[in-house]
Amino acid sequence: MSAPDDARSDVRMEDLVSLCARRGFIFQSGEIYGGINGFWDYGPLGVELKNNVKAFWWQRMVRERDDVEGLDGAIITHPRTWEASGHIANFSDPMVDCRLCKKRFRADQLEGIAKCTEGRGGEHSLTEPRDFNLMLETHIGASADAASVAYLRAETCGPIFTAFKRVRDASRQKVPFGIAQIGKAFRNEINPRNFIFRSREFEQMELEFFCHPDESAKWFEHWRSVRLQFHRDLGFDESNLRTRPHAPDELAHYANAAEDVEFLFPFGWQEIEGIHDRGSYDLTQHTEFSGKDLSEFDEQSKERYVPAVVETSVGADRTTLALLCNAFDEEELEGGETRTVMRFSPRVAPIKVAVFPLSKKLREPTKKLAADLRKRFNVFYDESGAIGRRYRRQDEIGTPWCVTYDFDSQEDGQVTVRERDSMSQERVSADQLRTYFQDRMDAL
Ligand code: GAP
Repeated sequence: MSAPDDARSDVRMEDLVSLCARRGFIFQSGEIYGGINGFWDYGPLGVELKNNVKAFWWQRMVRERDDVEGLDGAIITHPRTWEASGHIANFSDPMVDCRLCKKRFRADQLEGIAKCTEGRGGEHSLTEPRDFNLMLETHIGASADAASVAYLRAETCGPIFTAFKRVRDASRQKVPFGIAQIGKAFRNEINPRNFIFRSREFEQMELEFFCHPDESAKWFEHWRSVRLQFHRDLGFDESNLRTRPHAPDELAHYANAAEDVEFLFPFGWQEIEGIHDRGSYDLTQHTEFSGKDLSEFDEQSKERYVPAVVETSVGADRTTLALLCNAFDEEELEGGETRTVMRFSPRVAPIKVAVFPLSKKLREPTKKLAADLRKRFNVFYDESGAIGRRYRRQDEIGTPWCVTYDFDSQEDGQVTVRERDSMSQERVSADQLRTYFQDRMDAL
């Protein structure tokens, strides 16, 4: 993998991928069979990390707002949905095949591809580019004919548009309001690559915000700033985050404006989120294809109009990868030892508190303490090895706090709390621990 000029050198993908597999964050799906390209399993720590990202998004986008409703739509929805959206006709990437080694590539991503194993001097013999539709197809029911064809959604927003009227009426919302959804999406990517950055099965967190077309520019600005704040609050360093407005020739014919939120990965600046002012395209298309009226009545002008849509679409997996890159650090300690530390914000750290007995003789009261903290936080109990080694194991997975119960704890009711980044330690009353951690989480 050749790194572009603007790539960062403080974290290498090889190190990250290896740590993720070794510590059970993320690894290839179907590993014992040799893996399957573009599909990944999230292990015990990975699922916690991604769940924290999704919960934080839901908190900010749905729970903290009066004007956004949640939805969990079907992965396979009515195939007409994708005709209306233009996916069946246009959702494709240009593809080329090598006549010699039979490998397939994206025509617009030929830079840095592996040499041909059959061609002289490693040269591929490439065909002319052809369009390759990225929709994953399946069949519903017992017959496998044209009438049974259905598609796994290529983006989560399809069911949001088809459920617009139902959600609006059921929740008694009025435009402007939004519908938010988190869920799986599937794309038959020609070249899945860069770990979980581009895969064939992934998760999106999408908001479709419906408003009067005259107000879409205002809402675009609103959502742009809300979304940037979200990324800052996840703990991304400012120097790793930027926005990139689309040039007019990059915009879809119906779109008024678009901006990407980009993160500086080891393989360069890449999009993690897209924010789009899509005009009235979506509901106009679904009105035409379904024959159902999806327009709104404007009380002021006494006219009907088709709502415009401002969309914010962020990948849960790409955000997770960005968090892993952002957090990864190797620090040289006094005495020459190097510690690997994942500096996750406590907001997303998979484990919030690790609890250790200084000696196995202290197991019983320490487990009691862990059980109490577990009611509120994700806690890991560890009694094996020297305390220093236990700290290192937690640093490597990004646990913000470690608590040690020692022989004095039995006498004075206090425990030692050690903070991950500064490695500073303080004595805290055991019965104040829940409040101690809660205060620090609330202050984020
Ligand atoms: N509804 C708009 C939409 O789907 P997109 O730019 O194609 O727009 C939005 O996707 C986000 O979904 C991207 O910014 C990215 O984070 C994520 N995403 C898209 N394709 C992906 C893939 N193959 N693997 C992982 N994440 C992907």
